[in-house]
Amino acid sequence: MQTGHILFFFMFPIVLEGCCGRNQKKVSAGLTGLQQDVTHQHYRAVEGESFMMPCIKSGDGYIKVLWSRTGNVGPSFSCGRVLFVAEAKHTGKYKCLTSGGERFLHLEVVEKSRMGCFQPEQSDIELYIGTSGEIPCPAHNCTNNSDVAWYTGNISVSELSRETCVENGHFHLCEVKGKVDEDVYFCDRKVIERGVTWTFRRAVNVKVLPNKTTPKPPDIIYPDANRTEKVELDQYHRLTCDVCFQYEKNISAKVQWYLNHGGNTKQRTLLDMESPLHTQPILQEYCIRQSHIIKTVTSQHLNHTYTCFASNTAGNVSVTIKLEERVKWPSRVGYPIAFLLLAAGMAIILHMKSLELQIMYRSHFHFGNHGEKPFDVLLSHVWSATSAEMETGWTLSSPSGPETDKEACQQCMDLTNTELGEANRRPRVMLLHQVLEEQWGYRLCLLDRDIVPGGAYANDVVCAIQRSQMLICLLSADYLCNSNALFVLESGIQALLQKSTPKLLLIWTCRDSATLIQEAPLPSLVQRALKVLPSLNWATGKPTRASCDFWRSLKKAMPNHRVKLESIL
Ligand SMILES: *[C@@H]1O[C@H](CO)[C@@H](O)[C@H](O)[C@H]1NC(C)=O
Ligand SMILES: *[C@@H]1O[C@H](CO)[C@@H](O)[C@H](O)[C@H]1NC(C)=O
Ligand SMILES: *[C@@H]1O[C@H](CO)[C@@H](O)[C@H](O)[C@H]1NC(C)=O
Ligand SMILES: *[C@@H]1O[C@H](CO)[C@@H](O)[C@H](O)[C@H]1NC(C)=O
Ligand SMILES: *[C@@H]1O[C@H](CO)[C@@H](O)[C@H](O)[C@H]1NC(C)=O
Ligand SMILES: *[C@@H]1O[C@H](CO)[C@@H](O)[C@H](O)[C@H]1NC(C)=O
Ligand SMILES: *[C@@H]1O[C@H](CO)[C@@H](O)[C@H](O)[C@H]1NC(C)=O
Ligand SMILES: *[C@@H]1O[C@H](CO)[C@@H](O)[C@H](O)[C@H]1NC(C)=O
Repeated sequence: MQTGHILFFFMFPIVLEGCCGRNQKKVSAGLTGLQQDVTHQHYRAVEGESFMMPCIKSGDGYIKVLWSRTGNVGPSFSCGRVLFVAEAKHTGKYKCLTSGGERFLHLEVVEKSRMGCFQPEQSDIELYIGTSGEIPCPAHNCTNNSDVAWYTGNISVSELSRETCVENGHFHLCEVKGKVDEDVYFCDRKVIERGVTWTFRRAVNVKVLPNKTTPKPPDIIYPDANRTEKVELDQYHRLTCDVCFQYEKNISAKVQWYLNHGGNTKQRTLLDMESPLHTQPILQEYCIRQSHIIKTVTSQHLNHTYTCFASNTAGNVSVTIKLEERVKWPSRVGYPIAFLLLAAGMAIILHMKSLELQIMYRSHFHFGNHGEKPFDVLLSHVWSATSAEMETGWTLSSPSGPETDKEACQQCMDLTNTELGEANRRPRVMLLHQVLEEQWGYRLCLLDRDIVPGGAYANDVVCAIQRSQMLICLLSADYLCNSNALFVLESGIQALLQKSTPKLLLIWTCRDSATLIQEAPLPSLVQRALKVLPSLNWATGKPTRASCDFWRSLKKAMPNHRVKLESIL
C-alpha cells in the first residue's frame, strides 16, 4: 500500500504543479449540462464583490440581452458587459425578452457577515508573468468544489484558446502571459436548495505583476531639493512631501518629516505627521503624500530646516527645504493719491489677467524635460452611449508609424477614406487611443484602464497626472458636464500652474467651442484656462483636409521621444 503511494507520486510528480502538466482535458463549461428550468435562472452574489449578469446560452453561442428589474425599479444591466459591485439593493427579480419568450433571473446578494467562510484575501490574487498561475475559488475549503465553472468576464474559460485547466475548484492558467490576464474571474458553483438550482457566483480580482522587479529606491516628486517655501508669520503652514514607490508585496515604504535644529541635519527631530495618503498602484508604482502641519509659523521656524526622508528596502532618499517669510510690500505714506489709484488699477488688471498669462506662458513656452515618467500621455475623455453612436466610423489601415509629415498625411487620407465607407463604427476616442498607442508608440494612461478601481479618485488622478508627460483632454459637451472629467482637467491646470507641469492639450470634438465655454457651468479657473490653452479642433462631418490637418498638428504637439510600450513591461 505504502509503496503504491510512493510509486504514484514518483511517477506523477506533476501533481505538485497542478493539472497543467497533464494531458489537457478540456473542462466542460461547468454545469450547463444540468437539467434546469431555462426560463428561470437563480444567481447568488456576495455583497461588495464584482458581479456581471450572465447572457443566455443558446446552442454554441450566447444571446445578448438586457436584464431589467421587474416593476421597473432600479437599473437595468446588459449581460456579459457591465461589471458592477453587488449591493443588497440589487437583490430582486430581473427579466428580459428573447425570441423564445420572457426569461427571468432571480438575483440574491448575500451579506458578507452571513457567510461562514469569508476570507477577503481570496478575492485578490497576484500572478507573475511567465509562471503558472493558480486562482482558487473563494471559500474553497468550506464547500463542495466538484462542479465549479470559471469565467473571465463573460467568457467561459473552457472557450479560451489558452492552456488552462480546472482542478479541485482551482483555475490554473498554465502560463501567465501578461496584462491581458489581468481581469475579474468568476467561479460559479451550483447549490441546490429546496429543488431550486442556484448559481453561486464569486469574483476574484487577478492582478499580474512582472516576474522579477529589481527593487528601486523611492523617488521624491515634491518638494525639490533645497527648495524654499514661502510662509507667513502667525499663519498655518502645511509641509507636504509626495513620494512614489515601486509596488512591493510586503510594503516597506516609509515617508517621514524631520526638523533639523538650526539647519544642522545631525541634530534632527522626527515631526508628528498626519496619516499618509496612498494612491492606487499604476504600472507597479504608487505614491504617498505625507504632511506635517505647522499650526502657527513663528520666526523660530525660519531658523530650522525640514527634511523629508523616504525609504524602502532598496534604499533611502531625502530632500531638505527651508522656510522663508513672504515679503510684504512696504507701505509708504505720503505717495500721491493718484499714483496709488493707478497702482491699484494696474494691480487689478494684472491680477485678472495674470492667471491667463501664467497659463499661456507655461503651456506655450515651458518646454522643460521633467525626467523620465512612466507615461507619455494621460488621455482624458468621456464616453457616453449617445455620443458613441453619433460618431462616424473610423478604422486604421496602416500598422506602421508615420515618420514624416507627408507620410502622416498620406496615412490620414487613408484614415478618412475608410471613414467614408462607415464600415466600422467606432468612437473617436478609440481611434485616437489606437493611433497614439499602437501607431505612434506612446505609452498611454487611461484612467478607466490603467488605474485599479477602488482608490480615492482624486488621488489617483493627481498621481496619474504627475506620472505623465502630457495630458490630453478630448472635449465635448458631455465632457464639460461630467464632474469627474472636469476634475481631471482642473487638476491638469493646477499642475500646470504649480510647475510640476505636464504639457496640456485640448482637443475639441464639437464645432462651437466658444459657445460651450460660455454656457457650460464651469469653475472659473477652467473657464479662463480653456480660452488660452493650446487646442486642436477635430470636427466631425466633412473630413479629408480638416482631419488631415488635425493629425499633422497632433503629431507636432506630441512629446518628441517615443518609447515603445514593451520597454517598460
Ligand atoms: C463579452 O464581452 C465583450 C466585450 O465586453 C463583447 O465584445 C462580447 O460580445 C461579449 N460576449 C458575450 C457572449 O456577451
Ligand atoms: C484550505 O486548505 C488548504 C489545504 O487543503 C490549506 O493550505 C489552507 O490553509 C486552507 N485555508 C483555510 C482558510 O483554511
Ligand atoms: C459534491 O457534489 C457532487 C455532485 O455535485 C456529489 O456527487 C458529491 O458527493 C459532493 N461531495 C460532497 C463531499 O458533498
Ligand atoms: C520568474 O520566471 C522564472 C521562469 O520564467 C521562474 O522560474 C521564477 O520563479 C520566476 N520568478 C518569480 C519571482 O516569480
Ligand atoms: C542642495 O544644497 C546642498 C548644500 O547646500 C548642495 O550640496 C546640493 O548640491 C544642493 N542640491 C541641489 C539639488 O541643488
Ligand atoms: C514578506 O513577508 C513575509 C512574512 O512577513 C515573509 O515570509 C516574506 O519572505 C516576505 N517577502 C519578501 C519578498 O520580503
Ligand atoms: C535665528 O538664528 C540667528 C543666527 O543664525 C539668531 O541670531 C537668531 O536669534 C535666531 N532666531 C531665533 C528666533 O531663534
Ligand atoms: C540611507 O542609505 C544610506 C546608504 O545609501 C545608509 O548608509 C543609511 O544608513 C540609510 N539611512 C537610514 C536611516 O536607513
